[in-house]
Amino acid sequence: MKQTNIQKSKVKKVIIPAAGWGTRFLPMTKIIPKELVPILNRPSIDLLVDEAINSGIEEIILVISTRKQEIMKYFQPNIPLEEELKSKNKWELLKHVKKTNRDAVIRVVYQYEQLGLAHAILTAARFFKNEPFAVILGDDLIKSKIPVIKQMMNEYDKLGCSIIGVQNVEFDKLNKYGIVKPKNNNEKNNKLFEISGAIEKPSIQKAPSSKAILGRYIFNYSIVKFLEDLDYYNNNSGEINLVDCFDKYLKEEKIYAYEFDGKRYDLGSIEGFAMATIDYSLENKDISHTIKKHIMNLASEIYSETSLLDFNLNKNKGGK
Ligand code: G1P
Repeated sequence: MKQTNIQKSKVKKVIIPAAGWGTRFLPMTKIIPKELVPILNRPSIDLLVDEAINSGIEEIILVISTRKQEIMKYFQPNIPLEEELKSKNKWELLKHVKKTNRDAVIRVVYQYEQLGLAHAILTAARFFKNEPFAVILGDDLIKSKIPVIKQMMNEYDKLGCSIIGVQNVEFDKLNKYGIVKPKNNNEKNNKLFEISGAIEKPSIQKAPSSKAILGRYIFNYSIVKFLEDLDYYNNNSGEINLVDCFDKYLKEEKIYAYEFDGKRYDLGSIEGFAMATIDYSLENKDISHTIKKHIMNLASEIYSETSLLDFNLNKNKGGK
């Protein structure tokens, strides 16, 4: 992701919720926060912080639990290590290490109870003063020419309304995401369209469209009072979701969906992490050649295994 030509946006803050247990990554997450699980040699959260900084965001608020203090250590200077690299003239490595010293732009807010995404956002946003803010979810890593949150900040600066980043997902995946409901059905294929609601993880039958919310939001500060009104402790039907406050919010303000450009990886799943690792390896000039060769060898092995399998299956079919 390249640094883009940054024009001053009205959106200056981003919240990155990172307080969850990371149960899908157990046993690893018994000792290491999921956000520090690496894509190659960088913790995934570093890539999200990059997205924010390359978008011109001035302040990043990480919402963490007290179990996850390690995350901040990554963004603080490690002076003995820097001295060691200097003494060995390892200037290139020193440059990479120093780039991670980002504690000046990152602030931590603790979420003492894990009451879900809406509550995490509220925990951070209640300290803001009537200003718009962005949200980046750590489970959604998105590779794009222009950072996704920057694409959305550009739209926000024109519209002044809350905006949610969406992309089409396959039908069998609709029940994994919040799905937006376009206000006018004939606009649903526009890149930017107004919504009249969203349903969290609907069945295929109940899904109001195929556009899934993929972890990027910009909200006007006015959403905070609707987040405050959610009853986080009375959740008979499971966790309170962010979209649960949309119906009331939409009575006062508009929300738009924006179909962003970029390739998204589901870091909430081990497959997603594996896919991101493969793609990032292929882009890393130091290792891409070796990895390509490895993938081509694997592909031919898989191909010959599957064609043998096809051959056997067909033989069995034919041998009635
Ligand atoms: C959350 C949101 C959901 C969104 C998803 C994107 O769900 O509640 O609306 O589509 O992130 O990754 P979670 O994956 O935390 O269950």
